[in-house]
Amino acid sequence: MIAAGRLMLPNGTDAVRLADAWLRIENDRIAEVGEGPPPVEPDLGGPTSYVLPGFVDAHCHLPQFDAIGADGMELLDWLAAVIFPAETRWQDATYARDMADRVASRLLTAGTTACACFATVHAEATQAAIETLAARGLRAHVGHVLMDRHAPRALTPPIAAQVESSRQLRPAGRAEVSVAPRFAISCTPELLAAAGELAAKTGRLVQTHLSENRAEVALARELFPGRSYTQVYDDFGLLSERAVLAHGVWLDDDERSLLAERGAIVAHCPTANAFLMSGDADVRTMRAAGVRVALGSDIAGGPIVSMPRVARHMLETSKRLHGRDGVIPPERLWRQITAGNADALGWPRTSRLEPGAEADLLIIEPDACERLARDRWPNELGYLLHAWQDRWIRRVVVAGRVQP
Ligand code: GUN
Ligand code: ZN
Repeated sequence: MIAAGRLMLPNGTDAVRLADAWLRIENDRIAEVGEGPPPVEPDLGGPTSYVLPGFVDAHCHLPQFDAIGADGMELLDWLAAVIFPAETRWQDATYARDMADRVASRLLTAGTTACACFATVHAEATQAAIETLAARGLRAHVGHVLMDRHAPRALTPPIAAQVESSRQLRPAGRAEVSVAPRFAISCTPELLAAAGELAAKTGRLVQTHLSENRAEVALARELFPGRSYTQVYDDFGLLSERAVLAHGVWLDDDERSLLAERGAIVAHCPTANAFLMSGDADVRTMRAAGVRVALGSDIAGGPIVSMPRVARHMLETSKRLHGRDGVIPPERLWRQITAGNADALGWPRTSRLEPGAEADLLIIEPDACERLARDRWPNELGYLLHAWQDRWIRRVVVAGRVQP
């Protein structure tokens, strides 16, 4: 199968570029990429199309997709009032399976073909979510949530049961199991230690939250006296290149240094930080300290599924904090929501249009007035990002399969 048009190709290690080009898909992979006119009439795309890698969301919550939009609360009140009730519904694994299928559709509609997401504490529901995302072809890390305090009884089973059921979870297709202690304040030291051991034994990715909201940070300090929030995770072996920690709004210099030293990844969630009034995470300062950064929608903390729109919010936050120095060029933002996020999540063959990569891609048709602008606009990548509409997506290809 051949796809052709303006292809978004890798450009070095942290940018993309557009070129008139084509690619050939063989089974689930991109077999060949060529610049210039396609060798035969393309099956997908054409002169007015763009071909983009599928998007990668580095942090979201599957059971929260119906909870988008509950405004007016900060993190801890919002978790108690909105999120824990939503997650309790996943005690019914059939409900979870159906919902995971709906979420897969929603992600694909927005062009997201890979994600690192949280399920719930329910092992059966988590297994159902893994199987469902895999059946829809998505690449995913699905976190089995661990928590044993500061949450309702229904969501805090005994530690031994949580850890044992976590151990028994199995990957399916391209959906992997990850270890997801929710955040330090919802875990006792015993549970954090067990999570660290499980991650070390299995090599699974660790997903958690870090330093999102002031009241949360204060409570973490109280529960783990004398330790910074970041040190708490390090104390239990949870910081490594295989750890993705969402938010990092209130980090200090020592915490940034520790994250950089361990090679851990902060999943920046600008739309959630705005929605839950948590504060602005300073990505520029994190990067300057050597911290690796990914970008996530954090549904439902953030209300926006579309990753190009989340990238726009990343840019806006950066400009708010740093003015002109905060400008992130569109070629880097596009890279961030594709191969950049994939690299951070340990997927070096995902979300890039190059030979050998997995064939996850989008055929885009900007409509008439935008197409006109393409010829005149000096920054085509900037134009695509800032004028982005999900309705431009005409076809989604997941692991070489064209979606209906
Ligand atoms: N911290 C702990 N759990 C959550 C969650 O579900 N969403 C967000 N935004 N932050 C969290
Ligand atoms: Zn989150």
